Amino acid sequence: MFITFEGADGSGKSTQAELLREALAAEGREVVLTREPGGTELGERARDLVLNGPQMGAWAEAALFAASRAEHVEHVIRPALERGAVVVCDRYVDSSLAYQGIARGLGVDAVLQLNLAVTGGLLPDVTFLLLLDPDVAAGRYDEPDRLEREGTALQAKVDAAYRELAERFPERIVAVDAARPPEEIAREVHDRLRERS
Ligand code: TYD
Repeated sequence: MFITFEGADGSGKSTQAELLREALAAEGREVVLTREPGGTELGERARDLVLNGPQMGAWAEAALFAASRAEHVEHVIRPALERGAVVVCDRYVDSSLAYQGIARGLGVDAVLQLNLAVTGGLLPDVTFLLLLDPDVAAGRYDEPDRLEREGTALQAKVDAAYRELAERFPERIVAVDAARPPEEIAREVHDRLRERS
């Protein structure tokens, strides 16, 4: 099973990914918790270029994230799924759809097509989308990267973008109210997962 967490910067998804890993591991499942670029060298370098590099156009951003994702799927995610592990990934294709596809205006279909091509069509079985008011989320991140420095205008667009994606892919994306204590959110995530499996 392939599970992803999505949300704007500061939504708490990394905490939730970790809590889910712990809960599933406690049930005796093999869990691989990962986040892009997942330790692949090309992925690290591509990601570093986007987040710390020069100004670039939206398609360059999308292509670099896609390159990172391609390596991550080939070397980390697919091998884990093939040996029967549960993979929990902090951000995946929906990040590109929200940030590059909608917030940057490249179009969901075009960015989805690129991502399906580079991942061999691998989409998550379920995606938990953590929704939090962008102003609250902005107070949560410590060292902002290039995208976070673009500030609330981008973050508000990203929030709206994720809500649009949840409507477009209702069978896959489960929206969760992230303005609650982490343990409460974790319980909901775990319950929703059990309902689906
Ligand atoms: P990341 O470090 O995963 O964000 P966070 O620490 O908030 O989880 O990602 C860094 C930034 O890159 C974040 O602002 C989201 C953005 N991003 C995209 O724009 N497209 C993508 O495909 C991915 C994976 C991330």
